[in-house]
Amino acid sequence: MVVWAVANQKGGVGKTTTTVALGSMLASRGERALMVDMDPHASLSGYVGVENGAHGSIYDLFGSSGSAPPASSLVHATAYERLSVLPASSAMITLDRQVGTRAGMGLVLSQALAGLAEDFDHVLIDCPPTLGVLMVNALAASDRLLVPTQTEALALAGLERMLRSLGMIERSRGRPLPRTIVPTMYDARTHASRACLEQLREKYGDAVSATVIPTDTQIREASAAGVPLASWSAARRGGLAYRQLLDELLAMRGQLMADAAA
Ligand SMILES: Nc1ncnc2c1ncn2[C@@H]1O[C@H](COP(=O)(O)OP(=O)(O)OP(=O)(O)O)[C@@H](O)[C@H]1O
Ligand SMILES: [Mg+2]
Repeated sequence: MVVWAVANQKGGVGKTTTTVALGSMLASRGERALMVDMDPHASLSGYVGVENGAHGSIYDLFGSSGSAPPASSLVHATAYERLSVLPASSAMITLDRQVGTRAGMGLVLSQALAGLAEDFDHVLIDCPPTLGVLMVNALAASDRLLVPTQTEALALAGLERMLRSLGMIERSRGRPLPRTIVPTMYDARTHASRACLEQLREKYGDAVSATVIPTDTQIREASAAGVPLASWSAARRGGLAYRQLLDELLAMRGQLMADAAA
């Protein structure tokens, strides 16, 4: 099982969209995919039709409402074959206050996922845009990190903030977390988009994916209608870009595994 976190402390950069796109594409390629919704706003859960908190959520894993149930009892199937979700609920917003400083609370998600290792090939964790106990859990549980970054002027400051937090978390987990910055909402017609992409590549080099996700109104419409991108025709720009991104990420992972074995 490979665990990917999708995180950025800046809001609205395409984290949830990226999680849903990659999760549904992995499932359509025959992989068993689990999407984990770590955002109390539960937009990912809503996207795949799981009602906010109605049947248990990540909140329960933290045991603040009694002993924690096994993670498998919280996993929901979606309307898509091989695509499951561990849902969020708004109660999760209180977790920082309740358990934020309690020892061991940073590894709750890692432990829960360890119990699901035989059930899934890929786990994609959609993070909230805030650094707190939920994001710390997501980063501690992950093998790789994707940082969607909107190609606009303000995005670079947000990205730097995210990478600084990541440095802190890497020190506490004692091993590096390889990362890929994914430029999103790119509009080649605007100077701001082109300049931002150029700056990203200059500053972060190989850590930036070769694939750039374009602004595509169909992505917005799909999220409003709750339709995962895998079910779009391949010719559509956004879907095509996410498909390319998945190929790139899987090739990268193959390379990492070959390096580790060598
Ligand atoms: N490539 C794109 N083209 C056009 N619209 C997009 C694209 N990617 C995402 N969007 C839209 O932008 C909005 C924000 O995207 P999304 O919810 O994925 O961001 P997020 O980082 O998860 O936000 P939050 O921080 O609030 O959780 C959504 O309405 C989504 O449909
Ligand atoms: Mg989101």
